[in-house]
Parts: sequence; structure tokens; C-alpha cells
Amino acid sequence: MKSTGQADVAVGESTLRVMREDWNKRALENAEHYVQNAHEKWDEREFFRSGEINVANEIMPDMHTICGGSRSPRDLNVLEIGCGVGRMTKFVARIFGHVTAVDVSSEMIAKAKVNLASLDNVTLVNGDGATLSAVADASQDFAYSFIVFQHIPSAEVIASYCREVYRVLRPGALFKFQVQGAQWQRDQPPDTWFGVSFSEDDARQLCQNSGFVMERSEGANTQFYWLWFRKPG
Ligand SMILES: C[S@@+](CC[C@H](N)C(=O)[O-])C[C@H]1O[C@@H](n2cnc3c(N)ncnc32)[C@H](O)[C@@H]1O
Repeated sequence: MKSTGQADVAVGESTLRVMREDWNKRALENAEHYVQNAHEKWDEREFFRSGEINVANEIMPDMHTICGGSRSPRDLNVLEIGCGVGRMTKFVARIFGHVTAVDVSSEMIAKAKVNLASLDNVTLVNGDGATLSAVADASQDFAYSFIVFQHIPSAEVIASYCREVYRVLRPGALFKFQVQGAQWQRDQPPDTWFGVSFSEDDARQLCQNSGFVMERSEGANTQFYWLWFRKPG
């Protein structure tokens, strides 16, 4: 894939460094726990089963609109932001033609490479934490991000990703993701665990500023504030 992306918003190098360092530390300490903190110590089968369940619950219900009614998922390219060790990627790759999975942490990507070694339709990318410079314009049919943006400590980084996702999606394609919506977080200094909180107005503005149309939202004022952004066709 060609490098074409550019962040058109200034994101501080120190923010990118902190995200990278904190997530590398977490990956080395106990990657599976920080990826999905339901357990301190995961049984490997259960860990991946949790990813399969998340794909069933969070991606399968949108299949009709992702595929535009008539296309086969095997013909579609999917982008995942914040893939971690490939917990969901593994199952998304069984459904779609190709998955490009990006993560800011080289240590997470190293583990994902081992976990996904048998799959030939996944490209793993250790990104810079704010752009998708390895992904070509209008090359993706669907983009998603699950329990990732909640951890991003900067609204500028999230805005940068939204602009980048808009760039790499084909017209008419969907970006489904979550942000931190919890009200209590609005008065806290943002960090790489609790992130930065979005109100409904913030989310509307994020959508508008990046060129998307807000198709749906769910879970405002909670930690799992889901947004469905559609690139106009
Ligand atoms: C809680 S884990 C979730 C991983 C995966 N989405 C899953 O559900 O299995 C959050 C992941 O997001 C990644 N991450 C955090 N900030 C990021 C950023 N700015 N860009 C890309 N990935 C990021 C972390 O390295 C980590 O792998």
C-alpha cells in the first residue's frame, strides 16, 4: 500500500509519544488484560472467544448497510483502528476480503503478528497514533474502532483520525466507532486510559468537521458512546 495520508491538524509529538509509550508498556506487562480488562489473567481461547462475541454483537448487525444490500463481504476491504493483539481482527478477517489493522503500539502489533500469522488477508500497521499514512485514498469499504478512542487523550487526535478515515473510505462507506462519553471524565485531565470525553454537541461537530453525516448514535453520556458516521455517496 502506498503512503498518501497527511494529518491536516497539528497533533503534538508529546501526545503521540505518550500514547505509544503507555501502550507499549501495557502490551509488555499484560497485553490481554489491557486489551479487554474483564480478566487479569485470560485463558487464550476465552480471550479470542470474547473478540468473536464482540464481532457478532458490534459488526454483524451492521452487515446489511456495510455491504450496501447486495455486495459480498468477501469483496470488501475493512480498516480497523486500534487492533491490539488482533482479538477482533481474527474474526473480521474471516468475514471480509481484506483487513488493514492499525495500532499505535509496536508491541501490540508484534503480538498481533504472532496471533494472526496464519491469515493471508490481514495487513498490520504500526501507525503514528493520529494518521493513516499507510492507507491509500478511497480504498476501504468499512472502518471500525472498538474500545480505542475512549483511551485517546486528545480531541485533536480523534479529529485527525476522523479526517483520515474520511479520506481512506470510499464514498457511501460507514465508519462505526466509540468515544468516551462519560460526563465525570469532562472535569478530569485526559490520560491514555480514560481519554477525553465527548458531549453530543462535540460528537455532532466532530462529524460535521470531518465531512461525514451522522447516521446514528447510541450511549451518549456513557463510556461506550457509539457513533455511526457515513461518508456521503
Ligand atoms: C483496549 S485496547 C482494544 C484493542 C482492540 N480494539 C480489541 O477490542 O481487542 C486499545 C488499543 O488501542 C490502541 N491505541 C491506543 N491509542 C491509539 C491510537 N492513538 N492509535 C491507534 N491505536 C491506539 C492500543 O495500543 C490498544 O491496542
